Amino acid sequence: MTNDAFLIKHIATGKEVEYPLLKGVMGADSIDMRGIYKDFGCFNYDPGYTVTASCKSSITYIDGDKGILLYRGYPIEQLAEHSDFLEVAYLLLKGELPNSEQLREFNLEISDRSIIHEALRKFFDGFHYDAHPMAMLVGVVGSLAAFYHREMNVKNPEHRWICATRLIGKLSTIAAASYRHSIGRPFVYPRMDLSYCENFLNMMFSRSSQTYIDQDHYIDPFLVKALNLLFILHADHEQNASTSTVRLAGSTGANPYACIAAGIAALWGPAHGGANEAVLNMLAQIGTADNVPKYIAKAKDPNDPFRLMGFGHRVYKNFDPRATIIRKTCYEVLSKSQKNDPLFELALVLEEEALIDPYFIERKLYPNVDFYSGIIYKALNIPVDMFTVMFAIARTAGWVSHWYEMMDEPSTPIGRPRQLYIGPELRNFVPITQR
Ligand code: CMC
Repeated sequence: MTNDAFLIKHIATGKEVEYPLLKGVMGADSIDMRGIYKDFGCFNYDPGYTVTASCKSSITYIDGDKGILLYRGYPIEQLAEHSDFLEVAYLLLKGELPNSEQLREFNLEISDRSIIHEALRKFFDGFHYDAHPMAMLVGVVGSLAAFYHREMNVKNPEHRWICATRLIGKLSTIAAASYRHSIGRPFVYPRMDLSYCENFLNMMFSRSSQTYIDQDHYIDPFLVKALNLLFILHADHEQNASTSTVRLAGSTGANPYACIAAGIAALWGPAHGGANEAVLNMLAQIGTADNVPKYIAKAKDPNDPFRLMGFGHRVYKNFDPRATIIRKTCYEVLSKSQKNDPLFELALVLEEEALIDPYFIERKLYPNVDFYSGIIYKALNIPVDMFTVMFAIARTAGWVSHWYEMMDEPSTPIGRPRQLYIGPELRNFVPITQR
């Protein structure tokens, strides 16, 4: 027996089997228990995959107890301070930071791929004006598969690269088009002369009589920096629900555009990326600081489904490093844009009260990235129902990197969990007249 193994013993029979311990570069190691069914005829029960390592990955590392988040080894704080979104997207995809020439080429490539087929643009006409932008995003991104299917060989790295850059490029165009459709304004074409975030804001807010960004009008560079920062913080988060969904769909060999659409669908839920929208709705519902104790009591009541949105995290049990960065940026953006947002004041009161409450302390519930991101989006004039779309634009960099990494492996087993069956035992069919 080696030290790098675990011994599992079935108490009833006394049978013992050793399972190897796989060593990670950092963080918790994983017991390779894939043989457990063959050895003992039983499965590993883990609803919510709380202690299951579903793959090996070299993209993102999180230490939830210490509040550490690294992309390809680089601390999120350093990337947030020094990088822009596309530089981080390149890092996630390629594994290394680009040099100036590589970054210039990557920017050009993404920009070149930001244009969408006119036929795809017409898909928006099929949506009712009040369709949620996330519904449009899921549908239109999935529809990309209809445009790029036959030429796609997922095992060809060149095809994969084109697919990954195409998705990053087109996501912001499709996202902005969803918004334009919802307000009944014409689609704005992407521009090659603008950076990724500038281009997105221009597509969102240009009017037919005046482009949002031109020689005479320029958005405050600080706000472009703030958007870059939010996109960097949301770009990846290892095997979260939406990324795992992309991997699961990808493991079947499905078309990658359809896989990313599946990821967008998973992101939409309020327990995941939908939390940023839910936080703003919750703050509006709370209304004023004197209502805070009432809502904290509701969040603590096990019989009340209400939860403090933007609080708690599956992995972070001390603090979310992204929330620390965003909180600081909130102050800066609001003071710079001279917006005194009462919802931000309310968020601060709520955070303060929750952080001293034993319920939240005992359960290690802290503000997560989404507690404050909506306040910044609001200061950038992004409407509330676009918040999760913003998350999706950023997370596309992570999704495509994980899909790329998975497809790069010589073989990928289909993702297929097992279950603990608790339904009826074998029984015979009863004719309808006898039921
Ligand atoms: N408000 C009140 N109680 C909470 C909250 C909350 N936001 N989050 C967890 N709890 C309680 C929960 O009721 C449970 O209590 P008890 O032990 O008495 O049954 C305990 O804390 C553990 O909760 P859990 O649901 O088992 O924890 P989890 O790791 O399965 O869930 C979570 C993590 C993020 C889904 C959850 O904390 C939550 O629903 N938070 C609100 C939604 C949110 O902000 N989501 C965004 C996550 S960050 C962005 C992203 O990565 O997508």
